[in-house]
Amino acid sequence: MKLSFLSIIPIKLSAFSPIEECETTPDIEGPFYIPNAPNISILTPPEVNSDFLFITGTVYANDCITPIPNATVEVWHANKGELTTNNDEVFFGNSTYNDTLYRAKIYTDNSGNYAYQTILPGKYLNGSYYRPSHIHYKSSYLDQNEITTQLYFEGDTSISKDPWASSQDSLNRTIPLTMDNNNNLNGVFDIYLNVNPEEIESTTIKEIQLIESIFPNPINQNTQIYLSKNNNYKSLEICDINGKNIIKKNNISHTQIKLYELIMPNTPKGIYILKITTQEGQTAAKRFVI
Ligand SMILES: [Fe+2]
Repeated sequence: MKLSFLSIIPIKLSAFSPIEECETTPDIEGPFYIPNAPNISILTPPEVNSDFLFITGTVYANDCITPIPNATVEVWHANKGELTTNNDEVFFGNSTYNDTLYRAKIYTDNSGNYAYQTILPGKYLNGSYYRPSHIHYKSSYLDQNEITTQLYFEGDTSISKDPWASSQDSLNRTIPLTMDNNNNLNGVFDIYLNVNPEEIESTTIKEIQLIESIFPNPINQNTQIYLSKNNNYKSLEICDINGKNIIKKNNISHTQIKLYELIMPNTPKGIYILKITTQEGQTAAKRFVI
């Protein structure tokens, strides 16, 4: 998506309706969805050990700000394919779907966050043109208010010829990817479901409010952790996506913590999980990207 493209997004003149302001627009399901995908967050088979794509995001309710714990996020996509040339452009094309690979059903954590590790999908022919690289999504809360959609990536030269990816509705589902020092791509995709905040269990809302935000995310030198005030915090832990503990810090006395200072300079790029525990035993977790 180019900046000039952003400037022509029409301003909505309809009466204010929260979900319209942030809603995740639907897209076609396509013919390759298979129910009951495995509950995994690492979609790559063991033989794939480089050039990962890390996607992280939060599922929100229809007020656009309340995260939904235990929401379902199903993803499926085509494999990488092979190097292909078409009109002098070289890309990974002729990719295909497999019944077992690159499929997952993920549940959001207590802070409404989800994350997974995969690869950038290749492109496959749809008639005479290649569909852009994309990841299919289904998301719902307690099996209700399901949305089916697709995620696209900025700068993909096949978007303009694809009727679904080039529609106005896909603009908020076309995300930038950043490449880290290990040639891994990172992107953030938040999902907004038509769920009323009151429908979310109050006990989990209380847990969510321990961590107000980690911003900016992906992190840089200015990133801070913002904790809710009036809590007695006990410990802060940072784990990698496989659950390996990287940092544990006890006796937290501030509600604004400079995250960058906690991260070792040689910490590999990727998705990490921040876990906060109070003296009363409450916990909250939130994912961030290095
Ligand atoms: Fe597809």
